[in-house]
Amino acid sequence: MKITIKKTISGLALAMTLVSGVEAADVEVMHWWTAGGEAKALGELKQTLAKQGVGWKDTPVAGGGGSNAMTVLRARVLSGKSPTAVQMLGFDIQDWGEQGVVANLNDVAKQEGWDKVVPQALQKFSKYEGKWIAVPVNVHSTNWVWGNKAVLDKVGVSIPKNWNDLINAMKKVKAAGYVALAHGGQAWQDATVFDGVVLATGGVDFYRKALIELDPKALSSATMKQVFDRMAQLRGFVDKNYPGRDWNLASAMVINGKAAFQMMGDWAKGEFISAGKKPGKDFVCFRTPGSQGAVTFNADQFAMFQVGKERKAAQQQMAKAILSPEFQISFNQVKGSAPARTDIATERFDNCGKKAIADLKQAVNNNSLVGSLAHGHAVPAAIKTAFYDVITAHFNGAFSSEEAVKALVSSVKNTY
Ligand code: GAL
Repeated sequence: MKITIKKTISGLALAMTLVSGVEAADVEVMHWWTAGGEAKALGELKQTLAKQGVGWKDTPVAGGGGSNAMTVLRARVLSGKSPTAVQMLGFDIQDWGEQGVVANLNDVAKQEGWDKVVPQALQKFSKYEGKWIAVPVNVHSTNWVWGNKAVLDKVGVSIPKNWNDLINAMKKVKAAGYVALAHGGQAWQDATVFDGVVLATGGVDFYRKALIELDPKALSSATMKQVFDRMAQLRGFVDKNYPGRDWNLASAMVINGKAAFQMMGDWAKGEFISAGKKPGKDFVCFRTPGSQGAVTFNADQFAMFQVGKERKAAQQQMAKAILSPEFQISFNQVKGSAPARTDIATERFDNCGKKAIADLKQAVNNNSLVGSLAHGHAVPAAIKTAFYDVITAHFNGAFSSEEAVKALVSSVKNTY
């Protein structure tokens, strides 16, 4: 009897392998971590799982911010071939939870005590109707500016403390012949800059009202017009080849000293670290001037999809590994993000990493932690895309600031 069952399972496993090309003890992982620093960080997870005998079928879908990956995922799930685990952000996890195709991770969560160590701001997205359906990997934030220290020292620019200081610093480095702001003209990157500019211009209460509550008065306010005016100011500091540039190539411009600044989430730090650069020596990290004290966060999570019984063990091993303290340190040191657990010692993080962790703790305590609009933690995807369209049209000069405010109010109203 036993032999027969075994034969059946191995036959099923074999069939599954033939169908999906994934060994029963393997996990197929879909993600968009294709830049150098990201790939290095992901390597930490692959190695952790390999040591536990779990093989890895890699399914990268290039495209910063993950929109491309979400498009490919929909096709995969519709064809009945869900990956084991998919990198996912915020409201997208909730959308998939509603579809009833994701796995229930409550057993692992209970056994590992996730409820006690994962911040509520993340649990809000990791759980659907009380069930853990995704495992948080990190906490990134977007209201950062990255600077090349040698360029700033050479031009005699100190770290800007407020918006006018930032604009004056950009004017000075531009006059000295550098690209002031390294940027990639892609909607998600324009929106990532927008996160920090809204925070810096209107403060955290305004950010919450306008970008999370979608309050029409806030969206159509003079403050929102000033946000777009400031986005137009930044447009004057990018180089002519910015359209379509990938974010990590913009980071490389700062790393190589061609450009002075990049306004980007702290995955950019992963590129600096991967290039062997040290914070404080080769580069500086500071909050978007005017946004200090608040944090716009986006946590990467792996949403776990329903798989056959024989692949459940590998999936649960992956879930457990992701939130293990050791992996949380080894991964986030390289990725540039803060850990997704609140009980991780910060000694092994560099100064920018320590700052990210301290800022996060302070923002949680002061109720000044808000979800990144650009990275799916403020509103669901359809409304996020409506913001993307207006922000990027304005950044590319299709709208004046007044027109952008009007377009924002109407397009947001039309999407919900
Ligand atoms: C974000 C993600 C980061 C990084 C970035 C650039 O959405 O949270 O981990 O991948 O996109 O692609």
